[in-house]
Amino acid sequence: MHAGRSKKYTGDIVNPRIARASTIVFDTIAELEHAVRYRHDGVPYYGRRGTTTTFAFAEAMAQLDNAAGCYVYPCGTAAITGALLSFLGNGDHLLVVDSVYEPTRYFCNQTLARMGVETTYYDPALGEDLDQLVQSNTKVIFLESPGSLSMEVQDLPAIVKVAQKHGIVTILDNTYATSWNFKPLDLGIDISLQSATKYICGHSDVMLGIACANEHCWDILQRNSYELAFCASVDDIYTALRGIRTLGVRLKQHQDNALSVARWLDGRSEVDHLRHPAFASCPGSEYYQRDVGGGNGLFSFVLKGGDDAAVAAMLDNMNLFKMGFSWGGFESLALYANNMPAKRSATVWDQPGPLVRLHIGLEDPQDLIDDLAAGLDRFIKALAR
Ligand SMILES: Cc1ncc(COP(=O)(O)O)c(C=O)c1O
Repeated sequence: MHAGRSKKYTGDIVNPRIARASTIVFDTIAELEHAVRYRHDGVPYYGRRGTTTTFAFAEAMAQLDNAAGCYVYPCGTAAITGALLSFLGNGDHLLVVDSVYEPTRYFCNQTLARMGVETTYYDPALGEDLDQLVQSNTKVIFLESPGSLSMEVQDLPAIVKVAQKHGIVTILDNTYATSWNFKPLDLGIDISLQSATKYICGHSDVMLGIACANEHCWDILQRNSYELAFCASVDDIYTALRGIRTLGVRLKQHQDNALSVARWLDGRSEVDHLRHPAFASCPGSEYYQRDVGGGNGLFSFVLKGGDDAAVAAMLDNMNLFKMGFSWGGFESLALYANNMPAKRSATVWDQPGPLVRLHIGLEDPQDLIDDLAAGLDRFIKALAR
C-alpha cells in the first residue's frame, strides 16, 4: 500500500506526481555534475533515465521483490530482451525452458542466434537433471513458471541449485505469479521480470515491463538496459503504480473466480484435463503449492477431442469471453492455443484434443460458467455434424 510513496515523490498528496520530462534542468554546474555522477542511483538526470514517477514505481517494485533494484521497460518483452542482452554475448550458451512465451523463443532463435549465442531448450519437468545440459559456456538459464499456455510448473529451487553450482545467472519470467504471490529472489533467482501489462496494471490499457535484480546482477542489468535505451512513458508508469495498490485484492478475486470456473470445467465430459496449477492434472502443480502463495485467473484446459471448426463454434461470438492474446485485465478472455505448444523443440506436445486458455476476469463466475456452457453445447453440436 505504501511502497513508493515517500514524501520526495508525493509532496503533500497521496500519490506520486506524474513528472513528464525530457529535460531536467540544473541551476549550477555542481548540481549538473552531481546528477551525472549519481544518475544510476535515482538522481534525476535526463528523461530517458526516468523521472521521480519512474523512481517511485521502481522503488515500489524492488521493495515488493526484495530486490537491489528494478528497471522499468516499455513492455514485458523488452524486459525479457533487455535482461537476456545484459548477460549474454558472442560465444555464450543459454538454457531456455521449452514451454517459454513464444516471443522469447523467437528472440533467442533469431536475434540471439545472429549475435552468436547458442540456445538449448529444456524439458520443463527437468529439475536437478538440468545439470546434464550445462556447458562450459552456459551463462544464463531462462525460466518461466508456469509456462505460457501449457502451464507446466518448474522445480525452481532445484534449478537454482544447478545454476549456483556453475555460477550461471537465472532469469525468471514471473508474470504469472507476480511479486505479490511469489518472490523469486528470496529463492535464489537472480532476476525476476514481469510483463506489468498484465496484473500489475490490471485494466488492459497499458504496456509496461519490469525486471528486478539481486545485488549481484543489479548494476549490470541497469547499465546495459540503459545503454540499450529502454525507457517507458511516465503516464503508463503512473498507471502501474496505481495498479499495485489493488493488486492483492484483484488477484484474490481472479483466483476465486477462476477456481469456480475450473472446478465446473473439470466436471464436464468434454474436458480431458485442466492445466491449472491448483489441480494435480497440471504438470508440476506440487511445486506451485510448495513455492507460490496464491493464484490468479489464468489457466488452460485440454479437450478430449475436436477440431478447429468445433472449437470455433464454441469460442466465436461468446457473450462475455472475447478472444485476445493478453491477460491480467479485469475482463475474461479465451484463446484457442492449439498450434502454439507445437512450436516446442525439446519435448513433444501430444494431447488428445485442442488446448484452450482462459483468463477469468472479475465478472460474476456464474455468468462466465453460463457463457462457457453455451459454448460447449455449440462445440458438441458442431462435432455431431
Ligand atoms: C508470460 C509472459 N511474459 C511476457 C509477456 C510479454 O509482455 P508484453 O506483452 O508486455 O510485452 C507476456 C505477454 O503476453 C506473457 O504472457
